[in-house]
Amino acid sequence: MLFTATTGWILLLTAALWQGVLCTDDLDVQHQPWSRYIYAPDSRTPRPHKIFRTHGKVNVHGLDVTLSPKSQVTYDFGREVGGHVRFLVNSPSSTKPLSLSFSESPQFIGEWSDDTGASPFSDWDRSLTVSIPPSGLGTSFKYTTPRESFRGGFRYLTITSTSNLTTTPVKISNVICLLGFHPGVENPQTAYRGYFWTPYDALLVRTWYAGAYTVQTNIALPDTGRFLPQVRPGWAYNASLGVVSTGAILVDGAKRDRAVWPGDLGISAPSSYIAFGPKYGYECVLNALETLFYFQNETTGTFPFAGPDTNSFRSGSKSDTYHSWSLIAIEEYAFYSGDMDWVNLHWNNITRAVEAMIGGITEQGLQNQTNTNDWAREGGGGLNSALNAVSYGMLTRLSNLASLHGDSALSSRWRVKAEELKSAFNALLWDDEAGLYRDNTTTMLHPQDGNSLAVVYNLTTSNNQKKRISQALTMNWNEIGPVTPELKDTISLFVSSWELNAHFEAEEPDRALELVRRLWGYSLDGPNMGGTTIVEGLSANGSLYYRSEAGYGYDPAYTSLAHSWSTGPTHQLITRLLGLSIVSSQGRHWEMIPNIPTGSRECVKELRGGFETKLGMFEAEWKVIGRYVQLKVKTPKGTSGKVGLNGSKAQIVEVKGDGGWKRVILRLE
Ligand SMILES: *[C@@H]1O[C@H](CO)[C@@H](O)[C@H](O)[C@H]1NC(C)=O
Ligand SMILES: *[C@@H]1O[C@H](CO)[C@@H](O)[C@H](O)[C@H]1NC(C)=O
Ligand SMILES: *[C@@H]1O[C@H](CO)[C@@H](O)[C@H](O)[C@H]1NC(C)=O
Ligand SMILES: *[C@@H]1O[C@H](CO)[C@@H](O)[C@H](O)[C@H]1NC(C)=O
Ligand SMILES: *[C@@H]1O[C@H](CO)[C@@H](O)[C@H](O)[C@H]1NC(C)=O
Ligand SMILES: *[C@@H]1O[C@H](CO)[C@@H](O)[C@H](O)[C@H]1NC(C)=O
Ligand SMILES: *[C@@H]1O[C@H](CO)[C@@H](O)[C@H](O)[C@H]1NC(C)=O
Ligand SMILES: *[C@@H]1O[C@H](CO)[C@@H](O)[C@H](O)[C@H]1NC(C)=O
Ligand SMILES: *[C@@H]1O[C@H](CO)[C@@H](O)[C@H](O)[C@H]1NC(C)=O
Repeated sequence: MLFTATTGWILLLTAALWQGVLCTDDLDVQHQPWSRYIYAPDSRTPRPHKIFRTHGKVNVHGLDVTLSPKSQVTYDFGREVGGHVRFLVNSPSSTKPLSLSFSESPQFIGEWSDDTGASPFSDWDRSLTVSIPPSGLGTSFKYTTPRESFRGGFRYLTITSTSNLTTTPVKISNVICLLGFHPGVENPQTAYRGYFWTPYDALLVRTWYAGAYTVQTNIALPDTGRFLPQVRPGWAYNASLGVVSTGAILVDGAKRDRAVWPGDLGISAPSSYIAFGPKYGYECVLNALETLFYFQNETTGTFPFAGPDTNSFRSGSKSDTYHSWSLIAIEEYAFYSGDMDWVNLHWNNITRAVEAMIGGITEQGLQNQTNTNDWAREGGGGLNSALNAVSYGMLTRLSNLASLHGDSALSSRWRVKAEELKSAFNALLWDDEAGLYRDNTTTMLHPQDGNSLAVVYNLTTSNNQKKRISQALTMNWNEIGPVTPELKDTISLFVSSWELNAHFEAEEPDRALELVRRLWGYSLDGPNMGGTTIVEGLSANGSLYYRSEAGYGYDPAYTSLAHSWSTGPTHQLITRLLGLSIVSSQGRHWEMIPNIPTGSRECVKELRGGFETKLGMFEAEWKVIGRYVQLKVKTPKGTSGKVGLNGSKAQIVEVKGDGGWKRVILRLE
């Protein structure tokens, strides 16, 4: 039966009487209103969308231009792109007729590129001189940027003619970008296996697709890492990113660092799984994890802080949090892919790594943070709450993995360690007056990271405690988003991705949506944003001076505008707001338990989305009609799940998947 507005109403009014009863029907999936929100281009050689501006004497014919000496054209690709650029130069009278500069943000359009090295004068990268071989003079020369001049992320390309052009102006035509991300995907739009849709709130849909596209731009070719020591002026991206057998590797950002960072994977990996599925979204994470195993320390069993093309790696920096994040990413990959052979292959190394973390637990029952490198926050060290929340999440997950692996002794050992850690965490760090956890035992600072992670990983002892933390975290909010207490003048979209998850976990969907609208809304539409990808972080006033004083050398042009650690909404709008998530390997068991915002009765009334695992497509929809909600799910044959509503009066129905739509109608509380 086709679900139409009219019959739907009639059906619902009757169906409401037999609440909780299951029916099936077919949904017309031919029209896909969400497809137009995909930001990816439809080919690997996109042309610019338009000419953004010109300076000096420039003749414009469509997208072709003729530049007089010292003039300039800026192309806008209409979206973040990355890779190489190619164009025809006709007919150069000098071997160095032009220079190129690249920018993600409209703020840094000009003769100089935005930066991939931090400098307070934003003058690190400057520009790339176009070199024409003598044989190309006076001809129509096809120019392509050289291999090491790979530019991983930009939206604007500026071409400036040099003063050498004293005689003839130079004509530029056929400008294209040779896409350098998501290799092997002929049409990048077809890589989207997940989708998200509501007809009621375009910002939510844009946020989902911008997050997905951000991840896509971070799926890197293996030899496009930042070369060290960094060249200056200029840039060179020809270094190895890690151990890659085939395909690509998931990195932190499009423009930079272009490296494997295990903490980032906590957000970017599930976004990749949900948006791109097993065919296009798993291998890039697997290659990142293989890199971590390859560089695992033989003596200590600890994973590296970051991939080999970073300074951190060279200087031997270590991180306790990123060690536990590595293990969480390993477990999560096993969970989505179901690849137990891979787990078996690495089991000894996994065991060593878990035991290395356990070795750091003190007599007080919490892990002592001695390697304090983290996402760049200040004040790590001691019995730190964020570290212990991550490590607790890691132990519970690895305990489950040990059980799947058939090692019940280790599974219970890790479960016991986890529960001991949880009771020490509450005994030593909970501040009942504030309704928040403290950063460690010797401070009154209540961090955004430790509190968000404590809720997400269930360090709390009651739902009420989750709600109190969710409420108290809003004290950090300004009109853009949460200003993190643990790093001065900073809004982090990574930590805020965890905070978002915490509001969902606390069953505060209205607050979660408010956070998405404020922070991700600003990240898309705020001044100086690229509009199609998500920025890594901001200063408290919304400027690009992220981490100014904390490593980024007061250089806003260094900030990455396409950072996959900022994409929490891309998985959470599906797994939390829509409520469709897998609860066992590959989704053999799943849940469709949405967090329906109360504001929805006037606002987001209907939501739909889906994703793919190796078992097939999982799709769901909820629709609020008056005091009722209709839940629909479509899951692969042989799977089973729970459909319903949580809350004080939980209404849950068991559903078996058979590849068709199933429907449940429930009364809202
Ligand atoms: C052209 O100008 C640039 C700087 O503007 C200079 O480095 C280069 O040597 C000049 N000469 C030729 C032949 O390109
Ligand atoms: C990478 O680029 C740097 C800087 O231009 C250069 O020194 C190095 O030889 C290049 N490496 C490879 C493998 O091409
Ligand atoms: C492994 O860890 C040990 C102990 O901290 C350290 O001395 C050694 O340099 C590390 N090995 C590598 C390859 O980093
Ligand atoms: C990982 O496991 C392999 C095979 O058991 C072993 O050779 C290697 O030393 C291990 N690496 C570490 C860091 O434990
Ligand atoms: C944590 O380790 C540091 C360095 O070893 C040590 O100075 C400190 O006392 C330890 N803290 C706790 C709470 O055990
Ligand atoms: C405890 O946390 C505070 C606030 O983040 C920090 O300043 C302090 O250094 C930390 N204590 C230890 C022992 O590291
Ligand atoms: C979360 O913690 C509470 C209280 O300790 C416990 O009752 C509940 O089962 C935990 N939830 C999960 C999913 O482990
Ligand atoms: C915003 O914050 C940055 C970094 O703190 C600062 O440099 C800048 O002046 C501020 N901008 C405004 C308009 O206040
Ligand atoms: C539903 O509630 C149970 C028990 O509080 C909790 O473990 C589970 O995570 C909740 N599920 C969702 C999707 O919120």
